[in-house]
Amino acid sequence: MSGSDASAARARRNVVVTAAIAGLAGLLFGYDTGVIAGALLLITPEFGLGSLAAGMVVGAVPVGAVGGAWIASTRADRYGRRRLIVASAVAFIAGAVISAVSESASELVLARILIGIGIGVASAVAPVYISEIAPPSIRGRLVTFFQLSVTVGILVAYLVGLAFADADEGWRWMLGLAAVPAVGLGLGILRLPPSPRWLMMKGDESAALESMRRIRPPDENAIVLELQEIRTSMGEDTGSWKDLLRPSVRAALMVGVGLAILQQITGVNTVIYYAPTIIQEAGIDSASSAIFASLGVGVINVVMTVVALQLLDRTGRRTLLFIGVSGMSFSLFLLGLAFLGDTGTVTSVIAVFSLMLFVSSFAISLGPIFWLLNAEIYPLEVRSRAASVGTMTNWLFNFVVSLTFLSLIDLLTQTGAFWLYGLIGLVTLWFCWRFVPETKGRSLSQIDAIFRRRARK
Ligand code: BGC
Repeated sequence: MSGSDASAARARRNVVVTAAIAGLAGLLFGYDTGVIAGALLLITPEFGLGSLAAGMVVGAVPVGAVGGAWIASTRADRYGRRRLIVASAVAFIAGAVISAVSESASELVLARILIGIGIGVASAVAPVYISEIAPPSIRGRLVTFFQLSVTVGILVAYLVGLAFADADEGWRWMLGLAAVPAVGLGLGILRLPPSPRWLMMKGDESAALESMRRIRPPDENAIVLELQEIRTSMGEDTGSWKDLLRPSVRAALMVGVGLAILQQITGVNTVIYYAPTIIQEAGIDSASSAIFASLGVGVINVVMTVVALQLLDRTGRRTLLFIGVSGMSFSLFLLGLAFLGDTGTVTSVIAVFSLMLFVSSFAISLGPIFWLLNAEIYPLEVRSRAASVGTMTNWLFNFVVSLTFLSLIDLLTQTGAFWLYGLIGLVTLWFCWRFVPETKGRSLSQIDAIFRRRARK
């Protein structure tokens, strides 16, 4: 290998490692998502929680996350992406430790609001940071490290939940152990280069050049060209909330916010949170089979996200959305159908198959692609605000769907509820076909140009 090949390989390794460390932010969110159902089974009798209090313990995180994403909206520009990710890790560590030693439900709720704030900040900022350091040719793959960490976090949490299910006050371990990845994230992120785009926005071109040299092959011309492209794309925005109303930003926000809502209201978290219940209701009676089914859901979610990682920059975002969302709708209709028949072996086999197909389809489409597009479609000077709006919306609808799922079943039966999600899947297909642009291989500045053109039409 020649010297310049070796430097190019080193630069590529640096950028991949940088994205992987920043992507760890997803672990915080995945871990909490996966751990709380199991922990709650133990917390409820210990603190004598009624259903309202239990709902508050669970809901404190998404509500805190809406606040966290809001906090990130302007701070990510003022203090920089990396500092905010460090702050999110600190909030998360404090929240995990306090919740592990809580002596009352109200202490627990406050600690979980803090955790939520950490998660909200991390999920608004980490994908944006990765998209800003990534070269266009592998940006899809690198931003998907974030979603991959979410899925790994969910799986690890299921396993930790199983390990401590019978331990004395096992829930304290389940909640406290969440601090471990957060420490890794906080320490790791400090060593990474600041986002060159953020530095350009701050007017510090020499620091931007320095940062680029750490993550790009040693080709000064290409680096200068990339910086120039960033400079030109920093057009007329002043970086205020009013800029979000500019027609091209509005067009991009419609895609980001639309996908934020659709990612949640197609029902993914009903499966992530309630898989064992769904499976039991479909006729598999033993608790251990139901737990295995949720482990299966966790594993398949990770595996298919790895598949998405390989495909996003080759097949493109739109194609994967079409395939994945069609699979989601189909499996939801099938799941609804399963609940029409008598409970029995056939019904439960169909239910398990539909759940697996649903999660696989989500993992190659709406799962990673919402976070990716929400990080890459907004112009630089409004990026952190607009991405925060998408993130806030996502957490808000996450909260609404988890809160309403069981009542929806009371109202419509399981069949009706899953068919409703399936129908929303069809609306999602139409939305993607009509509004989502292909961003594969395009630089962030070129993507910005797509929305400017749309706004002129
Ligand atoms: C969603 C989460 C969901 C997770 C499942 C994420 O993209 O935002 O709400 O729990 O995927 O893998």
